[in-house]
This record gives sequence, structure tokens and C-alpha cells, in this order.
Amino acid sequence: MKVLVLCSGGDAPGMNRVVYSLSKYLKLDYARAGYKGLVEGDIFPLDFKAVKESKDEAGAVIYSSRYPKFKEEKYFKKGLKNALNYDYVIIIGGNGSQRGAKELAEAGANMLFIPGSIDNDVINSSYSLGFQSAVDQCVYTIQNCMPSINAFCYTCFFEVMGRDSGRIAEETYKNANADVLVAKMEDFKVNTIAKKVKENVNNGKGTCIVLKEKMRDRTYFVEALEERVEKGTVKYQVVGRTQRGGKPAKMDLVMADKFASAAAKEIKLGHKNKSILVDEKMNIKICDLL
Ligand code: F6P
Repeated sequence: MKVLVLCSGGDAPGMNRVVYSLSKYLKLDYARAGYKGLVEGDIFPLDFKAVKESKDEAGAVIYSSRYPKFKEEKYFKKGLKNALNYDYVIIIGGNGSQRGAKELAEAGANMLFIPGSIDNDVINSSYSLGFQSAVDQCVYTIQNCMPSINAFCYTCFFEVMGRDSGRIAEETYKNANADVLVAKMEDFKVNTIAKKVKENVNNGKGTCIVLKEKMRDRTYFVEALEERVEKGTVKYQVVGRTQRGGKPAKMDLVMADKFASAAAKEIKLGHKNKSILVDEKMNIKICDLL
């Protein structure tokens, strides 16, 4: 049985653990740096020692990439040719990577998909690997900054990742007990926020605002709020890549083991073109990829 694995898109804490766990069940090759490696034929036997050493670390020891060229026929065909050399190709990635897996399956390759993306935006899955780790890092940053913000009764925007998904922002807001959530532009009710800021200042407290990235430039938010509160009191902190780089949360390591065991089971059963997803109760569910 020939099985290939690759990580695609933004790396997510827990990806290394899935690869390690899969390698306990299956003999694997890997495509270095995702679809790029698949297309370019950068394919190697998995080094079990390296994978074992990284099993509790963030990042992707087999590398990952964003590879928009895969949408072009010329590159897709090359990738497909390499995928067809394998009985199974396992893709670990987010919703864009899932689309790639689907297209390869439609073209005749035998694919398995495992959700791995801090954004938690994989269609039909309640969870994707790395989400909890990312949220934990956001909460950690907020907890580390707020004593200083409170000391001056300042206000701080904490910009968190998520691309088009507000999930990291929403969960961070809850877990960090923040004052305001801006997960979409409509949430930025600046007069209401300014009122909250003033109320907090009167109570001798700072204000914590969790803001999803990629909506408007930071100056837009800071200036709009500063027009309504004391000048110089509004700060902006980007949580940034710590969200993908910290130690994976226990939950992500546990989920990674579950994804790997379910994928290995599907392969042993000879099932083709499946997505290993998660239901509302956080149990693994197997769905058709096509
Ligand atoms: O998709 C994961 C993610 O971390 C998004 O939340 C973020 O918008 C994006 O990747 C950042 O992209 P890059 O890693 O290419 O800077």
C-alpha cells in the first residue's frame, strides 16, 4: 500500500502530531510543502525520527505552502500524475486545501482529507486542528498585556487571525473575558464602544477589544475611537504568528491522534475519497469528499 501525506495552507499546531500518528499506522511518503511538492515531484519517504521529534511541536516538519498555481490546468495535471502513483493521498489543510483534494478525487486520485487550519472554517466540520492552540495564544497575549493597559486605564485592540472567519475572535473574546468583540464590521459600533471605554475609565479599568484581522487598516479603528475618547489612550496589539507558533494545545494533540486513527481505519477498510471531519459533539465523523 502506497500512501502519501502533505500539509497545505497555513500551518496549524497539531499538523506534526497527525503526521506522526499516521506514521505509526502506515508507511508513508510525503510531498514537501504541500501541493507545490506534489506538483514538483518533491516527494520523499517520511523520516520517522524527525517526525517523532516534532510530534508535540507547532509548525509543519514536512513543510507547508500556499500554492495558487494549483488551480491552473498545467500544474494540476502534474500534481494529479504524482497523486495517481499512490493508493491514497492524505491532505491536511483548510477549506482551500479541501477543494484541491476534491478536484484531485474528481480527476481519479484516491484522496483523504483531514482539517488542519487555525481558522476553524472547514465546511461541515465543527473543528479543525490548531484552532484551540491559536485561541489559547490570543488569550495568553491579552492576559499579558492587560495589566499594563489597566494601569493606565487605556483601551487596546487585540487583532487576531482568522481570515474570513470570526471564530478565533469569538472564542478569544469569551475565553479572555474581553469587553468588546469586533468579528465583523457591523460589530464596530464606535459610539457604544466609546461609552464602554468611558464607563471603564470611571471604574479605574482599561478596555479590551478583540478584533478580527483583515477588515480595515488599524488606523481606521484607532482614529475612529480616539475621536470619541481621550487622545493617546487607544493602543493596538497584533497577536500575529504566535497563534501558529506556540505549543499545541492538549486538545489539538488529542484531536490529531483521533484524525490519524480514523484516517488509518478508512484506508484499512479500503474506503475511498473521504473527509475525516468533526461533529457538534466533537466526535469524528466520516463524510464523502465528493
Ligand atoms: O489560514 C491561516 C492563517 O493564519 C489566517 O488566519 C491568516 O489570515 C493567514 O493564515 C496568514 O497567512 P500567511 O501565513 O500567508 O501570512
